Amino acid sequence: MYYPDDIIEKVRSANDIVDVIGRYVKIQKKGNSYFGLCPFHNEKSPSFSVSQSKQMYHCFGCTAGGNVITFLMQYENLTFQEAVKMLAERAGIELPEPEYSEEAKQKKDRRNRLMEVNKEAAKYFYYQLRAPQGKKGLDYFTERKLSEDTMKQFGLGYANVTSDDLAKYLKTKGFEDDLIIEAGLATFDEKYGLHDKFWNRVMFPIQDVTGKVIGFGGRVMGDAKPKYLNSPDTPVFDKSRNLYGLNFARSSRSKYFILCEGYMDVIAMHQAGFNMAVASLGTAFTAGQANLLRRYAEEVILAYDSDEAGIKAALRAIEILNEVDLTARVLSLEPYKDPDEFIKGLGRDEFMERISRAKNSFFFELEVLSRNYDLNDPESKTKFHNEIAKKLCAFTQEVKRDNYIEAVCDKYGIGPEAMRKLITSYAMKTGDVRPVERPKSGIAPKNAEGEGKRAVQRLFLTWIVDSPGIYQKVKKYVSPEDFTEEIFRKVAEVLFKQIESDSLNPASIISMFDDEESQKTAASVFNERLRSVESRSEKEKAFHDILYSLKKNSYDYYSSKLGSDVDALKQVIDGKKALEEINKIHISLEDEK
Ligand code: UTP
Ligand code: MN
Repeated sequence: MYYPDDIIEKVRSANDIVDVIGRYVKIQKKGNSYFGLCPFHNEKSPSFSVSQSKQMYHCFGCTAGGNVITFLMQYENLTFQEAVKMLAERAGIELPEPEYSEEAKQKKDRRNRLMEVNKEAAKYFYYQLRAPQGKKGLDYFTERKLSEDTMKQFGLGYANVTSDDLAKYLKTKGFEDDLIIEAGLATFDEKYGLHDKFWNRVMFPIQDVTGKVIGFGGRVMGDAKPKYLNSPDTPVFDKSRNLYGLNFARSSRSKYFILCEGYMDVIAMHQAGFNMAVASLGTAFTAGQANLLRRYAEEVILAYDSDEAGIKAALRAIEILNEVDLTARVLSLEPYKDPDEFIKGLGRDEFMERISRAKNSFFFELEVLSRNYDLNDPESKTKFHNEIAKKLCAFTQEVKRDNYIEAVCDKYGIGPEAMRKLITSYAMKTGDVRPVERPKSGIAPKNAEGEGKRAVQRLFLTWIVDSPGIYQKVKKYVSPEDFTEEIFRKVAEVLFKQIESDSLNPASIISMFDDEESQKTAASVFNERLRSVESRSEKEKAFHDILYSLKKNSYDYYSSKLGSDVDALKQVIDGKKALEEINKIHISLEDEK
């Protein structure tokens, strides 16, 4: 943190959240909160709420949320420091010179230098493509039907046949060897000295969401292997948290984004007018990328390759998207291999048509699953229907589950009543409407368990924030160490202290974190919607369950660390005792609201 905490808190509390957000978004008072259309995703009815008393905002649609600093970071795309600066100016507060710790300063300088060297390399490649020696590259792109404008827009370039000219050039510009190596632009060995990573390839600079070059992909111009080389992960290039094309797609204002596999696919789609296309970066799609997408779109249309590998990757991407509550649909590119070839073959109108016919991801999963069964054989068909029932159990919302039951039964000619019975019998077996046993295809979420544990930690904290009085009743069983998720642990630590000193102030907790993603996670603690259980005894049971699960997860976590972590033993012993006691006690919520 560059500014002292008390200054940050002073700046935050001097800027009323309703005032600030009111300048960007039309919000109207309804009851205790203000509501408006969410600026972070496209919507028709308002699910964006701003609470004056809590000094926080939250969107029920896209789960954006945080305090006034988070809002500016998200809306204006500012860093934490920049947002604080802007708010300080607004409130007429003079900020001290930022306190950089020596380490933080070095880290920041290094990042800046890495950005600079990448930018210089991108300029170099760009220039080479347009110089006589780059003709081969230019011909290649032209052959692939890219226009001058498109090449320019994406900053495409060319790495020469010589394998040390970039490194030499960068050195003349004052970049040190170790920086060039850390950026992944060159490697060093005894025999050849410093030599370029990319040579004799056409180059795709990879930009972050603000348009800064953070890495490269380079493609051979023929059939040699590997087809693409990519920059390694560096302090400025995190492949799991960036998406190719997002710098353009973010301002498309499209309700849906198109997710494809390759750089060339993204470029071809943008050229054809589909400026909401993005791709992952030479690695499989990740949860970090799904979270990133969720800020801009409600729905993701998958345009993955139509081969086996593409289908497998699509199934995995659907899981990841569903985990962050993004709807997914899957587009068929048949008879073509990928979006680039499709557009070349059938053109943009036909692509548009395919978008409108993109398949609901659940049906896509069933279709892939059905290939494992012989639907003409009653035995095999029954097994398939059982698998469908299991999958349908996963819909926790009744209306949704019902709609899917209807649609699925219709499609596969199953009697809805029989299907409902099957689902109920599964639900009874597993004690819940979520399947415990996962379908063979590996379709179901892999880290659902992890998410469950996070949810318990969030729920517990939400509950405490809503009714701080309960904390006193359970504090002897719970400590910040029980929160195995680092962000939640920090939140718990401060939250418990605030409650003890009777100074609960959730909005101040959020700005303890200086990146947007952590702030959002911290904010989620204050916005988790508690199940509206009706009676007090139901509430008491629900809270008791949450407390028990929290403690049990913590106990399991430390048990697994016995032997490698010196503090684990104490946690395990205390945890066991606490669990036994929790089992016996009754927590009354009588005095709580
Ligand atoms: P594809 O093999 O589907 O290639 O890889 P493509 O995108 O259709 O490329 P073209 O049309 O032949 O030029 C999809 C993505 O996987 C990564 C790249 O990001 C590529 O865009 N990839 C592929 C690699 O990183 N390395 C490889 O060797 C191949
Ligand atoms: Mn291709």
